[in-house]
Amino acid sequence: MEVVILPGPDEVARVAARRIAEAVRRRPDAVVGLATGSSPLGLYAELARQVAAGELDVSGIRGFGLDEYVGLPPGHPQSYASVLRRTVVQPLRLDPARVHVPDGGAAELVAAAAGFERRIEAAGGIDVQILGIGANGHIGFNEPTSSLSSRTRVKTLAPRTRADNARFFASPEEVPVHCLTQGLGTILEARELVLVALGRAKADAVAAAVEGPLSSMCPASVLQLHPRAGAYLDEAAAARLRLADYYRHTWAHRPGGS
Ligand code: GLP
Repeated sequence: MEVVILPGPDEVARVAARRIAEAVRRRPDAVVGLATGSSPLGLYAELARQVAAGELDVSGIRGFGLDEYVGLPPGHPQSYASVLRRTVVQPLRLDPARVHVPDGGAAELVAAAAGFERRIEAAGGIDVQILGIGANGHIGFNEPTSSLSSRTRVKTLAPRTRADNARFFASPEEVPVHCLTQGLGTILEARELVLVALGRAKADAVAAAVEGPLSSMCPASVLQLHPRAGAYLDEAAAARLRLADYYRHTWAHRPGGS
């Protein structure tokens, strides 16, 4: 895994956005996997800045959400479809018809999950997948003990995840119990993974993901299996890494210096 430690969230946003912009320049109709959560917001804002400045054209890309709550009323402001509309589709001026999110309101969730997988396949697979990480090591909503080869499916949210996400809802009880999420096997099929982690609250999860054993107890450790995975971290999120000096040295001496 490429581990990049940067002074703060702004630098993380800039460097991680560069990875996405490179993927789009290589392939203007790139398929981009979109994460919600606070971690990638700076990255999205940086891409939006580049689009507004005419430096980047993302009009041809297609997007796939990572996950969605089950059972929120259509149009609920905290549904991930709504969040992605506000934080990605509108600021990047994407055609909403080109961005797909698992249908957490479907009557047949198993069929909705299978349909979502087929849609990714029909798009030719995901070129670059943006990821955050939960404080318990989840990616998407793949909670600890998720199968390392899982596909898009229904999951039950961990109590910690519901507590962490309660801040977005009027009351903790309003946080859905279930979700649909791309599986770890689905995520691993993306051609490139860009994980963003910010802040001290993520430091243990990041250390387990990057330097811990490959284990379903830390679902993000599955990135260790991917040939092209990068973790973009601020100093606080990197605080528990044992080889931090090595990662800084590697970044400082990277070929080409970009
Ligand atoms: C959420 C999402 C994840 C996200 C994670 C971290 O519950 N399902 O995709 O990466 O938790 O969120 P944040 O970036 O806000 O810390």
